[in-house]
Amino acid sequence: MNRVQLRIALTLTLLPAIFVPVRLSAQAQRSPVAPRREQVETVVRQAYERFKNDTSGKNADYIPYLAQVDSKLFGVALVSTDNQVFTLGDVGYAFSIQSISKVFTLALAMEELGPDQVFQRIGAEPTGRAFNSVSAVVDMPTHTGNALVNAGAIATTSLISGKDADEKWSKILAFYSKVAGEKLTLIEDVYKSEAATNTGNKALSMLLAKYERIYADPFESVDIYTKQCSVGVNATQLARMGATLANNGVNPATGEHVIKPEDIPHILATMTMAGLYDSSGGWAWHVGLPAKSGVGGGIVAVAPGKGAIAVFAPRLDEAGNSVKAQKVIEYVANGLDYNLYSPTSVGLK
Ligand code: DON
Repeated sequence: MNRVQLRIALTLTLLPAIFVPVRLSAQAQRSPVAPRREQVETVVRQAYERFKNDTSGKNADYIPYLAQVDSKLFGVALVSTDNQVFTLGDVGYAFSIQSISKVFTLALAMEELGPDQVFQRIGAEPTGRAFNSVSAVVDMPTHTGNALVNAGAIATTSLISGKDADEKWSKILAFYSKVAGEKLTLIEDVYKSEAATNTGNKALSMLLAKYERIYADPFESVDIYTKQCSVGVNATQLARMGATLANNGVNPATGEHVIKPEDIPHILATMTMAGLYDSSGGWAWHVGLPAKSGVGGGIVAVAPGKGAIAVFAPRLDEAGNSVKAQKVIEYVANGLDYNLYSPTSVGLK
């Protein structure tokens, strides 16, 4: 054995001895948020004050109900993996979860079918197009794109098993409630408003049927999807749903194992690629956290192992993402060094 080979052999022998104690130390198992409670509170408060008077963007109006929501509503909630909760503003207001629901139906589909089946039937490629794009369905080799654009999400909903539409819907709602740690309900008026105007989504479902990329009755799937988008959540519940993802699938409030740990990386990867649709790249560049937006005005961002922040503010940008929510989350993520791609966020100097 020459000197180089000897050095490699020694390094390989020593590696487990160096890494195991670090991985198992009590310090590593504690939430990194816990020792910094004041810092978290300060940064969240600063972000809230800084952006509370921002009036850029406008409410979604293609769903009539959403145009009527008070655009001044503004709530911020952060839930850590050790269940510390920080809230400011209108955090009790129940808004419609909209596209953020897609994340959790994706999780449920993987609970039922496993990640390989879901990847095969849906895919995980960013479309680079608007969330409701028809041309993406035509042009993309998978047609479905990914589980977070409308077409891929409707196809994902069609994967959920049940003897009829009611059973599938009840299963979805019960699953979301477990992830939130509280019973969630449908906002009837949002559902009616969207169901009366969702011709675009019905068209997407028929197009998916043409390519054999929808796995149950197309219009039934759109209807269940429309219900899932109309589920009401407040900012605190949404932050807890995100914190369940951050906490390896265990709800930090109830301690219940809701999502299989092996599914979490697939969910977070999909959120990174497509969570903010055609502005996901810019989001990764500036913020570096998996996140998901909804046209109801909510965004949730997940800091794995640390926690999640949810912001509700109805005014949206052109891509359909809440303007104020993006600004607040970017400020907090930078202030707390949450960016996943930043070496300092994992303790490297
Ligand atoms: O299907 C739709 O168009 C809505 N229910 C959801 C779209 C959405 O939230 C896109 N988000 N930013």
